[in-house]
Amino acid sequence: MALKVGIVGVGNIGSIHASVYKENPDTEIVAVCDIIKEKADEAAVKFGGTAFYSVKDMLASNVQLDLVSVCTKGEENGSEHFAPTMELLNAGIPVLGEKPISNNIEEGKQMVDLARKNKLPYAVNLNHRFTPAAERAKSWLESGRLGKIHMINMRMWINNPVESSPWFHLRALHPHSFDVIRYFCGDVKRVAAFMMKGEGRAIWSNAQIILEFENGAIGNLVGSYDAGASYGLELCEVVGSKGRFVLEDACEHLTFYPRAGIETEKYSHLGGMRAFPETFKSRINSFVDQLITGVTYDRVDGSGEDALKAQLIIEAAIKSWETGTIVDVKEVGLIPGGVK
Ligand SMILES: NC(=O)c1ccc[n+]([C@@H]2O[C@H](COP(=O)([O-])OP(=O)(O)OC[C@H]3O[C@@H](n4cnc5c(N)ncnc54)[C@H](O)[C@@H]3O)[C@@H](O)[C@H]2O)c1
Repeated sequence: MALKVGIVGVGNIGSIHASVYKENPDTEIVAVCDIIKEKADEAAVKFGGTAFYSVKDMLASNVQLDLVSVCTKGEENGSEHFAPTMELLNAGIPVLGEKPISNNIEEGKQMVDLARKNKLPYAVNLNHRFTPAAERAKSWLESGRLGKIHMINMRMWINNPVESSPWFHLRALHPHSFDVIRYFCGDVKRVAAFMMKGEGRAIWSNAQIILEFENGAIGNLVGSYDAGASYGLELCEVVGSKGRFVLEDACEHLTFYPRAGIETEKYSHLGGMRAFPETFKSRINSFVDQLITGVTYDRVDGSGEDALKAQLIIEAAIKSWETGTIVDVKEVGLIPGGVK
């Protein structure tokens, strides 16, 4: 039987979630919810399900929900996720949230803790790692094809002129970068950050963040909200003792370069994935598949906890730049109410 799905926040991204669920034969949209009545009503016509104008009313109705996407937004693109996510997790419903998990570490931690306490699968749309190319690269790391991981060189940039907060670029864009970085190289131990305000900008729209991993590897992120349309979205290069790979634009090209020898192996559009927008489908459907196969709360791919850990690296980078010091990520997690 198809999973009964609800979507909270049917703006730009909520509508993308809804189109993915609508196409998936294993899901049926039963509820769409937005505090803007017209948006909820329009979404109900377009995607199906009953329109609700508050999560409270949706939960009070007799609509059965097996999964809800929370696609709200707010300050630094993440402050509105907290209230609906807590209501849903308190009602015992698995959630797929949008990134950033929150712009507030304390609230992020409360959501992760509640999901763990109620043993509920809680995922975040960390879609950049849900591509056949990223999975292939990960399998090379797991099989030892790259040898011992030495370094990661990550770049993610887009053009985003929004100036809503000094840390908007860091908190809104780089949950993706740090999730990809953690996916390939594991947890980050220490961070040193340098930032600059692009021409005519009031916010820290460019960043260079240097990383040391728990496993001893080192790396860096170059990030920007001042990129041109021809720059590409992202590039991820992982270097090991036996070889390296370069993953371009999350899913488009993956190349393996052996350390010994000159014969390279290049894949383009693995799994038939052409471009970044298709990652919504692969990510959302992966969580649906996990729920159908009875995933437990602690085995979710791209979990709330993963999203929180990415956010902690961002907070460590902000602290590093503000204090001019190298910051231990665990220390950021140990701030009152932070992640232990
Ligand atoms: N994963 C990705 O690649 C990716 C890409 C872009 C944006 N995003 C994220 O998607 C999220 C949504 O962005 P968007 O551009 O669709 O925003 P949006 O403003 O278009 O949509 C958000 C909607 O949520 C509604 N809303 C707010 N609070 C609500 C509540 N309590 N209950 C019900 N509805 C509520 C708003 O009325 C609005 O319609 C953001 O967190 C953003 O960071 C993710």
